Amino acid sequence: MTSRTIPESNRREFLRAAGLAAAGIALGGSSLLVPRRAAGASGVREIEIVARETRWELAPGKVIRAMTYNGQVPGPTIRLREGERVRITLKNELAEPTTIHWHGVDVPNPMDGVPGITQKPVQPGETFVYEFEARPPGTRWYHTHFAEHRQIDLGLAAPLMIEPAVPDPFGSDREYTLVLDDWATGTGRPLPSTREGTAGARGSMGGMMGGMGRMMGGGMMGMGGQTPAYDTMTINGKAYPATEPLHVRKGERVRLRLINASADHTHVIRLAGHRLKVTHTDGNPLVQPVEVDAVPIAPSERYDVFFVADHPGAWFLYCAEEGHPGAGEQVAVVYEGHEGKTPEAPIEGITDLSLWRYGLGRGRDVLHAASGHEQTFDLTLSGGMMGSDVWTINGKRYPNTDPLRLRKGDRVRVRFNNMSMEAHPMHLHGQSFKVLAVNGRRLRQPIVKDSVDVDAHMGSVDIEFTAHNPGDWFFHCHKPMHMEGGMITLAKIA
Ligand code: C2O
Ligand code: CU
Repeated sequence: MTSRTIPESNRREFLRAAGLAAAGIALGGSSLLVPRRAAGASGVREIEIVARETRWELAPGKVIRAMTYNGQVPGPTIRLREGERVRITLKNELAEPTTIHWHGVDVPNPMDGVPGITQKPVQPGETFVYEFEARPPGTRWYHTHFAEHRQIDLGLAAPLMIEPAVPDPFGSDREYTLVLDDWATGTGRPLPSTREGTAGARGSMGGMMGGMGRMMGGGMMGMGGQTPAYDTMTINGKAYPATEPLHVRKGERVRLRLINASADHTHVIRLAGHRLKVTHTDGNPLVQPVEVDAVPIAPSERYDVFFVADHPGAWFLYCAEEGHPGAGEQVAVVYEGHEGKTPEAPIEGITDLSLWRYGLGRGRDVLHAASGHEQTFDLTLSGGMMGSDVWTINGKRYPNTDPLRLRKGDRVRVRFNNMSMEAHPMHLHGQSFKVLAVNGRRLRQPIVKDSVDVDAHMGSVDIEFTAHNPGDWFFHCHKPMHMEGGMITLAKIA
């Protein structure tokens, strides 16, 4: 089967007008319709990304001042071929420094975008050139790594796809990329914070109104380690009813690339009238699809899923978490011939649903072969006691945490023990890992990821990776309030 996509014509026009289409950049589902520019004489694809502020309408009447890549939220999709060399020039037109991190891409260390570790912050008016080979294949993403709490919250995130050299076995007739995000606009009722994890069998949410009563002036500017009052949920930068409907035809196999760019919230994605089949975890293929009612996605995680369009009509794709559809997290999926129909309202709540969890997947072994010796680390995640903003690894806050000192080729095992009341999506830069065990139970066949959600209340996860990429790599919780609170260490690969 071949991939086909639907044009998002207004956005495509915008890209043309901006002269970007020719540079191989495109949004969401439209990218395959954009002519791919032949690489220059140097054999390197050139792409330009401009970080700048712009007014952005999340929904009618909800206009914010966003930070954007090339004027759009999320930023433009970068679509590369596995192994392709790319040179991406970041021009900073913001009033403050920024950097870009290529999440899930095995870039050379100086290209990793971590200020103070791999590069100097890119000052206003300056440019920085990122150059790397696109690997490994799969659904990746890119985002700011400077003052993330504010800059990601304001929109600096975008998809990055790396097409595999050998196509994966899960073909599709059509595909859409959906970037999920949470916003603190100060205009709506704040949603309860996500405290529970997604790793194990997931019960109902904590239900504590974590974000309540901590509304901030202006809403948008998260300060310190506090959780901003997230009141708006978007899919591709828009809250319902502004979300752009997804069009499908009866009989098609439709691939969805789901990316959670949220700072705080886990989203449980469901399509009314259909079941979803999970094929990739953080971009890495499973041996076979896993069929579920809904897919919980922690911050920074990605899942590729598909559904078979065998139930004609108009349906909502939405987050089943209480309050999320009302905050904007729903989009119509409309079959050909059923345009103009309004889908039935989403059914909120996750208790009766069969949910994706790590242990259901059987991963393919796509890690680098290990050569050196084995190393084992125990990382205890703590903090947040009595509402404090302090978050620790083995009792220490970054920069005082103890780094993992590794040699290239080492096989590294890490056990996370979560002694805190909140889940932590832990992300390793520069290399992916296998998830060996969750809450003490081994996976039949480890799945491969680059972010793993460690359940709250004594949840544990064992991972293993080959230290194949030399350099100093950030290893941290992807909730920016926890990062700022100190939950970061370094994997130093010599
Ligand atoms: Cu997605 Cu250190 O980041
Ligand atoms: Cu955390």
